[in-house]
Formats: sequence, C-alpha cells, structure tokens
Amino acid sequence: MTKINSIPLGSPFHPENAREYERWREWKLAAHPSVPEELVVPVKDLSSPSEKEEEAILRLCRAANMAIYDTGRRDGVDSPQLAEELKSFAAHFGLIDRERHRSMREHELVDIRVASKEERPRQGFIPYTTRRLLWHTDGYYKYGYEGVRPIRAMILHCVRQAKEGGENELLDPDITYIRLRDENPDYIRALMAPDAMTIPEFMEEDGRVRPESKGPVFWVDADGNLNMRYTERSRHIIWADDDTTRKAVAFLRDLLRSGDEPFLFRVRMQPGQGLLCNNVLHTRTEFIDHEEPERRRLLYRGRYANRVRAPQSIPA
Ligand SMILES: [Fe+2]
Repeated sequence: MTKINSIPLGSPFHPENAREYERWREWKLAAHPSVPEELVVPVKDLSSPSEKEEEAILRLCRAANMAIYDTGRRDGVDSPQLAEELKSFAAHFGLIDRERHRSMREHELVDIRVASKEERPRQGFIPYTTRRLLWHTDGYYKYGYEGVRPIRAMILHCVRQAKEGGENELLDPDITYIRLRDENPDYIRALMAPDAMTIPEFMEEDGRVRPESKGPVFWVDADGNLNMRYTERSRHIIWADDDTTRKAVAFLRDLLRSGDEPFLFRVRMQPGQGLLCNNVLHTRTEFIDHEEPERRRLLYRGRYANRVRAPQSIPA
C-alpha cells in the first residue's frame, strides 16, 4: 500500500475511515452552493464588514472553501487605500500570515496585470500575460523544502476587468477529493503519498534557486483541514511513477475538463468584486485588454499560509 502522510484515523479524510467520510460527504454535498450566484455576498464597507456580511462569508468558506464579496465599487480606481482596506478585510477573516512575493508592491499585494517587455522578473510568467491559465492551486510549488510554507488561502480582488474574457473557473478542492475517492479510494492514497507530485528545482532570473518541491496533492493540516496543491501543467511536473497515480491524475484532469461537474463554477468578476478562498482550484481564460493603460485589467492578489477562520456560531 502507498505510504500516506500521517492523518489521524478519526479524520474523514483518512482513506481507511469510511464512516466519517460518508458523514462528511453527505454534509458537504448538501451544504455546497449549487450555482455561482450563491457565492456572492454584498459588502458595504471593506474595512469593517457587518456581522451579517461576515457570517455569510464565513459560512460560504466553510461550505465551499470560497466566497465572492461584492463592494459594488465599479469605478476601477487603483489606490494604496484600496490595498490597505483589502488587507484589513482579509485579516478580519483570519488571513494574516501573508506571503512575501518577488512581485509584490509597497502595499504588499501583487498586481495581476499584463507586464510590459521591460518588466523583469514578471515578463515571461503566464499570469502577467493575456494567456489562459490552466487549472491550479496558487503556489503549488511552495511545499516540502526548508523555510517554505504552503499557501492555504488567497484573496483575489478585481479592480478592473479586461475588455473581453479573463473569466475564472472555480472548484472547491473538497469536491475533487469526493469525486476521486468515490471513483477509487486508491486514487486518494496515491495523491496523498509524500512523493505524489514533484516540481524540480528552479532558477529565478535573479539567480536565486527555488529548491525542488516534492509533496502530496492532498494533505491534512494540524487543524484537520484538507488542503490541496495541484497544477494541470505538464512541463516541469513529475508525477510519481506508478499506474494508480497516473490513473488518478488522468481522472482528475478529466473531471476538471469534462464539463460534467455541477459544482464547477465559471465566473467573471466585476470591478469591486473579489474572491476570498482557501486556495481553491481555478483557471483564467485568455483575454483581450483595453488599449488605454488606465483601463487595463488589474487584480490585487494576497496569498496566505493560514486559512479562513471558522464561523464562530457553528462548532467545527
Ligand atoms: Fe492562481
């Protein structure tokens, strides 16, 4: 049997615990929103969400690992004040352990926009182009080497939309876990193996070396939460060399691509809307940007090593 990372036997995510899994599965499939509109929570003031707004967002993050808040501000204004508000908004939901990223600005969030030819090291990285992004969780290469902390949550705020395209597909990792386990529990065992997915060492443009990242696709953290790291990219990814892993990866890819998954949502975030999530699986479609620089697509992104906190009124 494949060796899996230590998970308490009482956890619903332990592949041997069918009883707890069934209970959790039943709750999850009933609690999960069935249309993307259910993810949206209007928020009047980012810097101090009301109790009701807060509760709605926390409940969604518990049920679906994500919520889309909507400030209603469609003006497209990019300001240091907005970045400050976003950071305090995220902190309100427990997101405080923010990643330090090579592309972050003074306000410590990362701008997701098309980079010009002169900009390095951004230029050449797909997120900073108009090209589509395949399915991934953020920072999937941040796992399993010294000093690194996995990305477990993210805020992605839309300041301005593209002229056309730039939609996101979203899928709660818990749902992929359920589909894989229902298909074949051995798929879960394979994807929980400590050597399931390896990203080789990488040399940054500034000469710094990012070490090899080897780890599972699914893992359970000290608080008992299920986490996922994944990329659909095939270049620079080494999957464990066995038949079950190959089949599990093919099944997962097909699940993401087939269009049959009812909980897979496609959204086009409006200016003033943002995704607050426990690092859910996502894509971005290709887009056409505006001509005028001040109208071009812009998102702010913050990534965190901790997760969205649990709602206070509901026991864990
Ligand atoms: Fe991403």
